[in-house]
Amino acid sequence: MSSEKRLKVMVVFGTRPEAIKMAPLIFQLKKEKHLFETKVVVTSQHRELLDQVCQVFGIVPDYDLDVMSERQSLVDVTTVILEKLDAVLKKEQPDMVLVHGDTATAFAASLATFYNHIKLGHVEAGLRTWDKLSPFPEEMNRQLTDAMCDVYFAPTAKSRANLLQEGRSQDAIFVTGNTVIDTLSLTISDSYHHELFDRLDANKRFILLTMHRRESHGDAMKEVFEAIYEVSAEYEDLEIVFPVHPNPNVQALAKQMLDGVEHIHLISPLDVVDFHNIARRSYFIMTDSGGVQEEAPSLGKPVLVLRKETERPEGVQAGTLRLVGTDKETIKSAMRELLGDRECYNRMARAQNLYGDGCASERITQALAYHFGRAERPLDFASGVSDE
Ligand code: UD1
Ligand code: UDP
Repeated sequence: MSSEKRLKVMVVFGTRPEAIKMAPLIFQLKKEKHLFETKVVVTSQHRELLDQVCQVFGIVPDYDLDVMSERQSLVDVTTVILEKLDAVLKKEQPDMVLVHGDTATAFAASLATFYNHIKLGHVEAGLRTWDKLSPFPEEMNRQLTDAMCDVYFAPTAKSRANLLQEGRSQDAIFVTGNTVIDTLSLTISDSYHHELFDRLDANKRFILLTMHRRESHGDAMKEVFEAIYEVSAEYEDLEIVFPVHPNPNVQALAKQMLDGVEHIHLISPLDVVDFHNIARRSYFIMTDSGGVQEEAPSLGKPVLVLRKETERPEGVQAGTLRLVGTDKETIKSAMRELLGDRECYNRMARAQNLYGDGCASERITQALAYHFGRAERPLDFASGVSDE
């Protein structure tokens, strides 16, 4: 056993996607307890959605900043986290803080870390659209986080290339794969059952829908819901399953336009085990979610991406993801094509691990140890997709 002091690593997250993607990394850090002392801080930018994930994985945070308020503004979330996390950082003095992705939590936690002269590691670094308003404010959150960062855990070769293009140090960038693929191996089960399957007709296909992004609120979301409503009425053998995000803007429109419609099932947000297993049984997926775009290729599910652009171009390049935007007629014809053209469907439904191989968390802990001179540099994840 080494006599060197353990490295104190503080993992900070606050929303559903961050929790889902940080969970396997927390497990790996705790497994390597000879090397790492792990502190878990949740901001609770999301309350119910975060608690759902922590409960499923049995994660008990060391600190809960409890910041969520209904209809919170970006300024509210950012300022409260900055202030509350500052106190925790001063008390704990970690060797490294790890944040994830592009949320207000990631940005505010990075800023607080930087102000305290503490090292910062960014999990899921280097994703870019290069359009600061799309997605808003996530694109700017991740650029600003990467500007303050010391160690970058880029999921793919493409995200590494983006960081190099910004002049980040090559030695500080590790291509790890996305931790969400590690999570899939914790959630997917062949014997899974959900009471929803008793309500759905086994002879019918179902589309899984999620939608929540700020830039989609209002008219864009309305067009999508109209497209879903109209196409679902055209097919005898089709159902729609829509777990509705708790954001009040999404709840109100979904209720107004789709509640009570035959063949459309509006349901509460699913926990991650349910969501992954239900996604696996779907015919295809329609979403504006980031994380769902990464999971679907590993599950062999085609995705119509309800956005103009994506920071996850690997899936578009490989043919699993198709960007359809939010124009009603474009969405309707893309849905009809997938529902009616078997060849087109099969081309999109090829299962492939574009975003990770299930070993991202191990690579990240090894990279952390390498950064502090305690291990060899890990080998990069290679998906086979080019970084063009
Ligand atoms: C945030 C992230 C976005 C991510 C999304 C995941 C930012 C800037 N955006 O957006 O990148 O895709 O989370 O879902 O951080 N609410 C609840 N209970 C919950 C969660 C949310 O009631 O468990 C409601 C609250 O009224 C809250 C609102 O949803 O005010 C919006 O939540 P917020 O985290 O501010 O923004 P999201 O749109 O969820
Ligand atoms: N997800 C979930 N329950 C749901 C919808 C999504 O557990 O009802 C999971 C999904 O598997 C993915 C993550 O939530 O891992 C994506 O979160 P979200 O779409 O809220 O945020 P984004 O990824 O767009 O930032």
